[in-house]
Amino acid sequence: MIKYLGSKRRLVPVLGAITAVSGARRTLDLFTGTTRVAQEMKRRGANVTAVDTARYSEVFAQCYVALDGATADIVEIDEAISRLSACQGYDGYFTETFGVRSRYVQPHNGRRIDAMRDAIESEYRGTWLYPVLLTSLIEAADRVDSTTGLQMAYVKQWAERSYRDIELRVPELVAGVGAAVRGDACSLAATLGSFDLAYLDPPYNQHRYFTNYHVWETLVAWDAPEHYGVACKRVDARDEATKSVFNAKRAMAGALRQVVADVSCRVLILSYNDESWVSRHELVDMCSHHEAVRLLAFDSKRYVGAQIGIHNPQGKKVGQVGRTRNIEYLIVAGPAPQVSRMCAGYPTLVSSGYL
Ligand SMILES: C[S@@+](CC[C@H](N)C(=O)[O-])C[C@H]1O[C@@H](n2cnc3c(N)ncnc32)[C@H](O)[C@@H]1O
Repeated sequence: MIKYLGSKRRLVPVLGAITAVSGARRTLDLFTGTTRVAQEMKRRGANVTAVDTARYSEVFAQCYVALDGATADIVEIDEAISRLSACQGYDGYFTETFGVRSRYVQPHNGRRIDAMRDAIESEYRGTWLYPVLLTSLIEAADRVDSTTGLQMAYVKQWAERSYRDIELRVPELVAGVGAAVRGDACSLAATLGSFDLAYLDPPYNQHRYFTNYHVWETLVAWDAPEHYGVACKRVDARDEATKSVFNAKRAMAGALRQVVADVSCRVLILSYNDESWVSRHELVDMCSHHEAVRLLAFDSKRYVGAQIGIHNPQGKKVGQVGRTRNIEYLIVAGPAPQVSRMCAGYPTLVSSGYL
């Protein structure tokens, strides 16, 4: 499973079950990230719109959400993957930047990535296979990377998995219909139409996805950007245009309140955890225009970097071992009978907006 900060691994089954009980046919995943939640909603029969600002998220969404796994030609994907897998590796931007100057992958895998990514660009750009092959490549790189899950930190020695040879696999496509949209939730929320159910999982603190997943941004853009720092981050990470209001402590609560008000949906589900800047009181209040509001709580494991500590390329520890667990919360808001059915059997902390 691809490593992603704030990814809702633990909550995916819960969100899938809640969506199914709600009876929602048309759903929105407004901060879709890995698209894991959107995929689960699609599996449960919903027509999902998946939105995110990240280039790699758009690629994942084109592959897993917009493409119908029931009609996609798996033989064609298989053939393309065999073709790419036969590419001879060579030194290029990726090897130099992320295998030599920084330690994202070992150079032998960096060379294969250079060759396979060039081939995807020259042979498949503009075809339906393009996002499928990019997804396959990003997931393959993730399985042999040497990070703690963030592309800013190094493990002390090369991670054991990084010695293995990179191997492309056919992504497990999902049958059904959906849409992939790349853009800012703040400007899109009011324009996307009406949904039976909207799921919102924004960043709640200073951790920027653009910098934490800059290698994937570059793998998709394939623009060999100038870079800075030990992690070789893209220079455009310094541009205002790549920053999210949801990483700005003062502005994020107001932005989220506006997005919640702008989204047109019968049922709203809002994710947050006990490491966020916004209090649960404030979040429940943002949803109070809905008839009923419930707050559910789930104990969860944090991302791996918090558990093993992080190191610079010389092996010196530069980060602390943090907390290993946190509490994930879901705020479910909508018509009272529907919310009550959706939340039945889950640990409820707060109900009907009363704290
Ligand atoms: C907590 S993660 C979502 C994780 C996702 N639910 C999953 O399971 O993979 C937050 C996501 O919000 C995206 N994001 C940040 N600012 C955004 C904005 N202004 N509009 C849309 N997406 C944004 C990030 O790129 C990131 O993928």
